[in-house]
Amino acid sequence: MAGQSYDGKVVVLTGANGAIGMAAAKLMAERGAQIFAVDMPGTDWAAFRDAVGHENKVATTEADVTREADVKAYVDAAVDRFGTIDVFFNNAGIEGKYQTIDELDIENLEKVLAVNVKGVAMGMKYVLPVMYKAGSGAIVNMSSVAGLGGSPGLLPYITSKHAVIGMTRTAALEAGPKGIRVNCVNPGPIESRMMDSINTGQGDKTSAHEATASSIAMGRYGTPEEVAGIMAFLGSDDAGYCNGGFYTVDGGLTAA
Ligand SMILES: NC(=O)c1ccc[n+]([C@@H]2O[C@H](COP(=O)([O-])OP(=O)(O)OC[C@H]3O[C@@H](n4cnc5c(N)ncnc54)[C@H](O)[C@@H]3O)[C@@H](O)[C@H]2O)c1
Repeated sequence: MAGQSYDGKVVVLTGANGAIGMAAAKLMAERGAQIFAVDMPGTDWAAFRDAVGHENKVATTEADVTREADVKAYVDAAVDRFGTIDVFFNNAGIEGKYQTIDELDIENLEKVLAVNVKGVAMGMKYVLPVMYKAGSGAIVNMSSVAGLGGSPGLLPYITSKHAVIGMTRTAALEAGPKGIRVNCVNPGPIESRMMDSINTGQGDKTSAHEATASSIAMGRYGTPEEVAGIMAFLGSDDAGYCNGGFYTVDGGLTAA
């Protein structure tokens, strides 16, 4: 099989039913992983199952990553099901509403921080002890180019994705000496529901899409599969010396 082998590896993936999560699950399943897929209570998994296949190696569970009891429960359930956790893709995230700071709805800020910061922190809180016990493992947190610069109207999301880089660096320093690598991925705009929502918030969805695409050196948005590719690399043994880093996958957007 091309790419990094995931044969026998146990992968836990949050936000699994979204655009990037589904592409990542599909890729990792093709490469031999056993996947414990996590998404919101009430998730309809039909499209996920169709896209990912490999039924006997893929389990799904429902958890709200903002609730500590749910996080503990999905980590325990993954270990019950597959015995350990080798790779954790801490991917669930929301974009929140598009609002300038003078109009900021604090509930919106709290909601975005709850998923994108608290959810990511709590995921690591419960997964790391499993990896410490094993003496190995890799965590890939989901940041964004929104973690590397500002963007008008997106304070909650921008703040949260900057925080993911800080959490990644801190976790890498704590976990590195114990044999665990922690990195994050920083995608640029990806063809997805999330970018549609952000572009709609900016006014005219089509012209916002075009303006963003033309600001990218490669002249286009990325695909969920292109993000899944770097997630797979960072979670694999091929990335054996990568720890505490952030990795853009943005068509050259942040090279400018
Ligand atoms: N789409 C992009 O352009 C883009 C760019 C950079 C970074 N990202 C990041 O990539 C990740 C995935 O984005 P996506 O495009 O697949 O978005 P998406 O909305 O398609 O998927 C996100 C998934 O997370 C789940 N989720 C949200 N809140 C949750 C909660 N409280 N508990 C459990 N699950 C929850 C959703 O149900 C959804 O399935 C996010 O962290 C996002 O911020 C996306």
